[in-house]
Amino acid sequence: MALASIIKKAYYTLFFGILFYFSALLALTNPTLQRHVLYVHKLHSSAWFSPNEPEQFGFAKNQVQPFNFTTPDHEVIYAWHILPLGLYAKHETALLQQPSGCAEDITKSLAFQLLRGEPDSKLIINFHGNAGNVAQGWRTDSYRTLSDGSTSNIHILAIDYRGFGLSTGFPTEDGLIIDGVAAVDWAMQVAKVPASRIVILGQSLGTGVTTGVVEQFAKRGIDFAGVVLVAGFSAIPDLLTKYSIAGYIPILSPIGPYPRLKKILRDCVVDKWLSTERLANFVRLSKRVRLFIIHSKNDPEIPWTESEALFAAAANATTDGGMEVGLFNKMKARSTIDTGDGTFISTWKAGGDKIIREEILAYGHHSRILTYAPVALAALKAFDFEG
Ligand SMILES: *[C@@H]1O[C@H](CO)[C@@H](O)[C@H](O)[C@H]1NC(C)=O
Ligand SMILES: *[C@@H]1O[C@H](CO)[C@@H](O)[C@H](O)[C@H]1NC(C)=O
Repeated sequence: MALASIIKKAYYTLFFGILFYFSALLALTNPTLQRHVLYVHKLHSSAWFSPNEPEQFGFAKNQVQPFNFTTPDHEVIYAWHILPLGLYAKHETALLQQPSGCAEDITKSLAFQLLRGEPDSKLIINFHGNAGNVAQGWRTDSYRTLSDGSTSNIHILAIDYRGFGLSTGFPTEDGLIIDGVAAVDWAMQVAKVPASRIVILGQSLGTGVTTGVVEQFAKRGIDFAGVVLVAGFSAIPDLLTKYSIAGYIPILSPIGPYPRLKKILRDCVVDKWLSTERLANFVRLSKRVRLFIIHSKNDPEIPWTESEALFAAAANATTDGGMEVGLFNKMKARSTIDTGDGTFISTWKAGGDKIIREEILAYGHHSRILTYAPVALAALKAFDFEG
């Protein structure tokens, strides 16, 4: 009978669908495969659109100086040094005569000398999200939003972590943090920009790198001008059942209602990126904190409530022994400005010169938000606070 055969077909489809789903999950217990899924580092367009020709992404000729630096564990990291447009304007003629492409020796480039020579040059070190390279998506637009303006002295340093873009190696959590720390060391030791004129900014996966990096520097007793976390997350195991690939495929949400299965899955995660813990450590160890946490309500990939968790962990770490949730909520409400439509800005000020700000926006999605004014504003405020 037709009906019976349809039911049979539907049954088999369902059966094999579920079998396929769980086989795929099982396959993900393989660390290498899992890292490919988390970092998506092979998905980039360096072969078609060379990041060594930044003009194709809308920059002025030689406004961007690509170069390599080496990490302590011998990976070669590809980086961009982006000049602020106002500074470029002053030196255009000389810059045009510079050789283009990846620098053989960055310290000989004019762009580098303009960064190192200027006593008031500021630097944003940018840690991008997963997939792609320094030149992909909204990233290039965001560098311009952050540094343009006729009087801006804000340079940008953007890197591709190991395994990404033109960098060598394969990504791991420890490796990415080593790359981030090496970028900051390069800025402070080679480019001679003091930490008080450096802002560390990360988006999405890059917020994990940022918290990992600033925790390391807090241990060394070094405070930065500011730290900006855009569209961040609390920890990968917590994010698993909430994350949607490209905003549309909530790949692990079917597991959500099964606590035991969820636990097995969480234990399988090789790179856990425990950002809330690291952020709390950073706040505790630092003498001076300017932390900006920004997320959009309409982020379809990582829910904005993840930034609530980051804020709570950071604010909690300003008190000895922590605050119980009821008291925290009351104190947070007192320092929150309602900006309408469920959006708000909370500013947590704690003794010992620690300011933590959370801004939840109505718009911006997951990546485009990088080009939105509140992100550039956070960096400006971080530099400004210096006085
Ligand atoms: C930068 O590093 C990459 C990867 O090792 C290499 O292919 C490239 O030639 C290097 N560029 C320069 C100018 O050294
Ligand atoms: C703050 O930390 C304490 C101690 O770990 C914990 O009991 C409390 O729930 C935390 N409060 C918030 C708001 O997360």
